[in-house]
Amino acid sequence: MAKLKIGICGWGNVATGLYEQLTNGNELYSDWEISCIGARRDNPRCNPGSVKILRDIFDVVKEDVDILIELIGGVETARDLISEALNSGKHVVTANKAVIFEHGEELIKLARKNNVRLLFESAVCAGTPTIKMLSNDLSANKISKVAGMLNGTTNFILSNMQEGASYADVLKEAQDNGYAEPDPTLDVNGTDAAHKIGILSALAFNTGLPSPEFYIEGIEEIKSQDFIYAEDFNFTIKHLAVAKLSTGGIELRSHPVMLDINSSLAGLKGVRNGIQFDTDLLGAFHVAGSGAGRESTASGLISDLHALSKSNEVSPMNYPDFSNKPNILNFNDLTFKFYVYLEVKDEPGVLALISKTFADHNISFDKVIQKDQLQNGSVPLVIFTDPTIESEMQIALEGLADHPEVLNSKIIRIEDL
Ligand SMILES: NC(=O)c1ccc[n+]([C@@H]2O[C@H](COP(=O)([O-])OP(=O)(O)OC[C@H]3O[C@@H](n4cnc5c(N)ncnc54)[C@H](OP(=O)(O)O)[C@@H]3O)[C@@H](O)[C@H]2O)c1
Repeated sequence: MAKLKIGICGWGNVATGLYEQLTNGNELYSDWEISCIGARRDNPRCNPGSVKILRDIFDVVKEDVDILIELIGGVETARDLISEALNSGKHVVTANKAVIFEHGEELIKLARKNNVRLLFESAVCAGTPTIKMLSNDLSANKISKVAGMLNGTTNFILSNMQEGASYADVLKEAQDNGYAEPDPTLDVNGTDAAHKIGILSALAFNTGLPSPEFYIEGIEEIKSQDFIYAEDFNFTIKHLAVAKLSTGGIELRSHPVMLDINSSLAGLKGVRNGIQFDTDLLGAFHVAGSGAGRESTASGLISDLHALSKSNEVSPMNYPDFSNKPNILNFNDLTFKFYVYLEVKDEPGVLALISKTFADHNISFDKVIQKDQLQNGSVPLVIFTDPTIESEMQIALEGLADHPEVLNSKIIRIEDL
C-alpha cells in the first residue's frame, strides 16, 4: 500500500514530538511519510532533516499531501487553515480543542461536503482515548453524565496544593517544568476544560456544540487552607467539567468541586486527566491517563492517522447530529450541596445573623464548624449545606456581604460521583 503523505503545520511542542515519534524507525509508523512542515521559524529542539520546510503554513495546503495536521493552536487562523485543507480534498487531524469547540460544526460540515475527514482525538485528554471511544465504542449506551478532570495544569496545581504547596509556588513550578503555558490563563480560569466538556457533551448527547455562555470558574481563589478543611470531612478539591442530562435539558459547567476523597477521580494526581461516564449498559465507566505532553499528544494524533489509513471502508468516527440544538439549563436553577467558608468578626450575634440569612433563603446546614481565630482577630466558619438552589446561595452571600461583621466569603460546590 502506498504511504499516506502528511503535512504538519506548526513546529512547536506537539509538532516536534509527533515528528520524533513518526521518524524513530518504529515499524508501527510505517504507513505515513512526512512530506513537508509548515514552520514560520526553526525550532532548536528538533532538526527536521531533509523534510521540506515551508515558511507559510498555508503553502502546506498546496503541496501533494493526503493529510494536513494542524498544530498551530488558536482559533481563527487555524479555522482558515483547516477550511482550506478540507476544501482542497485533504483529510485534517488537529489537537486544537479551541477551534473544534468554536467552529467544529462548520468544519465537520465542510469535511462531509468534500468527502474527507476531520479527526481530533488529542483535542481532549491528549492521547488518553476519549473522542473515538465515546463516539464509537460507547455508541450502544445511553450516557447520562460526563464528569471530567480535563486540564492537566489545573490538576497538577491542585494536587500539589493538597500536599501543602501554595498556589503561586506550584503555578511557577508547573511553568518551569513546561506543564503550564507561559500564559496559563485559559488553563487556570476553566476555559480550556470548558472547551473540552463542550465537545464531549455534543458527542455524548448527540447534539450540536453548545455556545460558550455556560458557567465557567477557575481555581484562582482556592487556598491551601481549603484542602485542610475539606480533608476534615473526607473531601478533596479538584477542577471538574460536567455535562449531565437533566429534565428539560443539559447541565453544562466547568468549576472547582469538592469530591469524596475515595472517589476514583479524587485519587488522580499531577497532570493526569480522568473522566467518569455514567451509562445505562456499562454503569459508571472511567478513563484516566496523561492529558498533556509531547508523547501523549503524539499517541492521540497517530491514532487518528491509523483511523484514516483504514477509513476507505469505515467512517473513523460518528459525528453528532448538529441539527439537534442543545438546551443548556440555567446554572442559577441548579441544585448543589455547598462548602461555604466565611471569615467573620469575633462578636456576639454573628452566628445568629448568618443562620437567619441562610434560613431566609431555604438554606439548611449539614455541618457548621468554627475554626481557630486568625492572626487578624477574625474567625473562620466552615459550613457544609444541604442541597440548595444556586441562585438562593448567591443571594444569601450578597446579603451577608452587606454586613460589616462578615469580612470574607467563598463557596465550593460538592459533586457526588
Ligand atoms: N502541549 C500539549 O500538551 C497539548 C496537548 C493536547 C493538545 N494540544 C494542542 O496542540 C496544539 C499545539 O500545541 P503546542 O503545545 O505544540 O503549542 P506551541 O508549542 O506553542 O506550538 C505552536 C506552533 O505553532 C506555530 N504557530 C502558531 N500560530 C501560527 C501562525 N499563525 N502561523 C504559523 N505558525 C504558527 C508556532 O510558531 P512560533 O513558535 O513561531 O510562535 C509554534 O511553532 C494546540 O492547539 C494545543 O491546544 C497541546
